Amino acid sequence: MGERRFLLFAESAPLRAVAARSPEHTLDCGVRSAAERREQLKEVYERALGCTACPLHQTRTTVVFGAGNADADLMFIGEGPGANEDRQGLPFVGRAGKLLDTLLQEIGLERASVFIANVVKCRPPGNRDPHPEEIEACHPFLRAQVELIEPRVICTLGNFSTKLLRGDPTGITRLHGRAEVRTIGARTIRLLPLFHPAAALYTPSSLQTLREDFSRIPELLAAPLPPQPDAPLTASPTAEAPSEARCETPSGGPATGASPESPRHARSDAQPEPELVPESEIVTEQLGLF
Ligand code: URA
Repeated sequence: MGERRFLLFAESAPLRAVAARSPEHTLDCGVRSAAERREQLKEVYERALGCTACPLHQTRTTVVFGAGNADADLMFIGEGPGANEDRQGLPFVGRAGKLLDTLLQEIGLERASVFIANVVKCRPPGNRDPHPEEIEACHPFLRAQVELIEPRVICTLGNFSTKLLRGDPTGITRLHGRAEVRTIGARTIRLLPLFHPAAALYTPSSLQTLREDFSRIPELLAAPLPPQPDAPLTASPTAEAPSEARCETPSGGPATGASPESPRHARSDAQPEPELVPESEIVTEQLGLF
């Protein structure tokens, strides 16, 4: 069984259990295994570390590539790193991140079972909005993340990721809580636009709305995977296009045996507390994120 590592969390028992059922070798249908996709994701991460494609590289402390389960069914995509994230190299580590953790727990999930990324991987100075050319420059990394992680559901957090992934300027106020099927690069997923947790921190009514919208996530994870496009993948900014990566059962369910109740999006009430990896290890494990 291949290792399954997370940036912040040591492997928990239920996740080990599902890893045992996950395809760590190439599946019969000729697709890439989870282990292969994870390795490719690491390569994309290493490329992102050296990225100078937009001016944000001049002011960043670290690249905040994203973190979590490289084989997650559920991805969250925020806007861009803030000061804390820029310092630590991890997404959503401040108050908004704590709220995200709480909301995940309320629907029986934990951070270690999802993948969290941002539209831009480097902090916009002074927490200003990312500029269109910065979003564009970073977009290949996000596309690669979606194509390699192969989520079933993506929750966009706030306006920037919602507009980018929908390719449409309609704002989050109109769209929040309304799930739709969208094709992102070579992956067709269920997209659920959500208010950004930072906005919900300051407005009780937004928090209530965010909570209600969050409650839709389990049913979306349980829904069959939408039909996938035939187009060849272009998974990483410069990597060669890999083929479709995850076998799906005829009913559209994952071939891994995962279900909404399975540890792949594990219920936190059935799990021991995740073990925190000491900070020194986080630093030394920067290349072993997944
Ligand atoms: N806000 C975001 O959009 N992303 C982060 O990583 C942190 C705060």
